[in-house]
Amino acid sequence: MTALIDIAELRFAWPDQPELLHIEQLTVHPGERVFIKGPSGSGKSTLLGLLAGIQTASRGRLTVLGQDLTRLGGHARDRFRADHLGYIFQQFNLLPFLSVQENVTAALIFSRHKRSRLRAPAEVEAARLLTELQLPRALWSKPVHSLSIGQQQRVAAARALIGRPELVIADEPTSALDTDNREAFIELLFAECRQQGSSLVFVSHDPYLEPLFSRVLSLSELNKVNLC
Ligand SMILES: Nc1ncnc2c1ncn2[C@@H]1O[C@H](COP(=O)(O)OP(=O)(O)O)[C@@H](O)[C@H]1O
Ligand SMILES: [Mg+2]
Repeated sequence: MTALIDIAELRFAWPDQPELLHIEQLTVHPGERVFIKGPSGSGKSTLLGLLAGIQTASRGRLTVLGQDLTRLGGHARDRFRADHLGYIFQQFNLLPFLSVQENVTAALIFSRHKRSRLRAPAEVEAARLLTELQLPRALWSKPVHSLSIGQQQRVAAARALIGRPELVIADEPTSALDTDNREAFIELLFAECRQQGSSLVFVSHDPYLEPLFSRVLSLSELNKVNLC
């Protein structure tokens, strides 16, 4: 079975900064739901950016779905991300003046691969996801800027999930929610990932969420760079 993520001797530094990450070895298998924890500033978002091919490692190997991202150019990495990943950003990065439904289906515009994986027309699949994520139908044609933070979060999740990406990456997506809503959101995200066969890498500094996951990784333990 091809590993979902395979890292060996990965090193990364932001320009003109000391080394931030050195991960000797990490393997994540398909179907795992991984929780990555670490204090603010420890490099969690940077690691996710590397996994998604937004940043590139300066040394080492970073293989996602059998593809070594360190060997791909910028355009190929953008293509890979659009085709195989769903990303829930901390600040959501939704298009504020587009409707809820348009934001969800926008993820398909840049990926023929995701379009080919749809089991129903794009609008029908968007509607299914929004229903599963419990976003009231009355909001679907509204511009996303008119929604609450919790509602926007569900739109961001639906956008990440559409087209059944092999890997869903979530960067502290619950930090703006209260405790009850956090757990409800995660349960919905899990259910949908399970149903469509997406693996999940979820980053948070909230220890309350840890027990919900099949695997917990501490970035401070994983990272050989001593940041203190
Ligand atoms: N785009 C960037 N350019 C330069 N430095 C950055 C950038 N993003 C993050 N950093 C630096 O990398 C370090 C880790 O940041 P980050 O990965 O956002 O940590 P976390 O997500 O764990 O809070 C911080 O020192 C931060 O200033
Ligand atoms: Mg972060």
